[in-house]
Amino acid sequence: MIRFEHVTKRYDDGTTAVDDLSFEVAEGELVTLVGPSGCGKTTTMMMVNRLVEPTSGRVLVDGRDIAGVDPVALRRKIGYVIQQVGLFPHRTVLDNTATVPALLGWKKAAARARAAELLDLVGLDPAVYGSRYPAQLSGGQRQRVGVARALAADPPVLLMDEPFGAVDPVVRERLQNEFLALQATVRKTVLLVTHDIEEAVRMGDRMAVYGQGRIEQFDTPATVLGSPATPYVADFVGNDRGLKRLAVTPVTEDDLDLWKGNHEGYVGGPGEYEDGTHAPLGTSLKDALAALLQHDAGRLVVTGDDGRPLGVLTPAGVHRALRRASAPAESRPGENRAAENLPGESRPAKG
Ligand SMILES: Nc1ncnc2c1ncn2[C@@H]1O[C@H](COP(=O)(O)OP(=O)(O)O)[C@@H](O)[C@H]1O
Ligand SMILES: [Mg+2]
Repeated sequence: MIRFEHVTKRYDDGTTAVDDLSFEVAEGELVTLVGPSGCGKTTTMMMVNRLVEPTSGRVLVDGRDIAGVDPVALRRKIGYVIQQVGLFPHRTVLDNTATVPALLGWKKAAARARAAELLDLVGLDPAVYGSRYPAQLSGGQRQRVGVARALAADPPVLLMDEPFGAVDPVVRERLQNEFLALQATVRKTVLLVTHDIEEAVRMGDRMAVYGQGRIEQFDTPATVLGSPATPYVADFVGNDRGLKRLAVTPVTEDDLDLWKGNHEGYVGGPGEYEDGTHAPLGTSLKDALAALLQHDAGRLVVTGDDGRPLGVLTPAGVHRALRRASAPAESRPGENRAAENLPGESRPAKG
């Protein structure tokens, strides 16, 4: 959906902000761009909606080199959320949200109806907040309006530059979770810039870790944390990368040991476990480990879609899962899009 081919950006003063960048973002994928201040993240993002033009190389959106696309037409297909939000102070929340549909020539009533729908979607009751002005909102609420406005014309692509950077950590985590829930339904192709490694790991299907003007590693959070490509990446993701990985590694069937029929806590059918002694397949290792520690049981019953036990997760299983998750992407079919294109016989046999 978004493709960078050997893109370099040199500003007029000679600063090379981005140096020979190549990567691709698939349709419906959320990719985070993460790195220290000044490493070229914003420059990268602004080359997608032509607020910045590459010095060399090509940027393609939906298969078209955007150098040949009218910037105004291009930006209609690309929602843009920035940290400073950029709401119009003298327009109501509803009118701010309706900005793009109005620009696109929608009838006023239709644009407002759409805006109300979007405010609802981001958790702001339009009857309560629609008639307020931006100054009458909290920082978190303003960010929600920013997201609603970016989504109002239903663009396939969303660019988000430090979208949750201006709010306190508690509100930030809530906004992140809200956005992930929203993304699960709207499935936009998203580029999200952040300097916060936690945010990059939590939000990204894949993440691009930037050094100075270059991508040092582009992979799933589990792989970046489990197998940092360079010492720079290892340093950037931090000494506690093992702990961070737990949150982004799901429990799979391969991680389970055999469940023996009358295991304590399990009586017979779904819903008959003690609280917290079971978890569904796909739960994060972090949550699974928390349950293991909390109940001091040494193992956790893991259930399938029908609520029936599939096996038990033990500390050894947690270890196996972490090793599996840090294997190179090509050997993990089903966990990433690249693997879907591999011929079947190259997939390791299951079990
Ligand atoms: N308009 C500009 N003119 C000159 N240099 C710029 C301009 N915009 C950004 N830069 C420089 O390009 C580099 C990358 O900036 P930027 O893309 O904003 O980084 P980030 O978003 O990762 O903090 C920095 O050294 C910055 O000072
Ligand atoms: Mg920036």
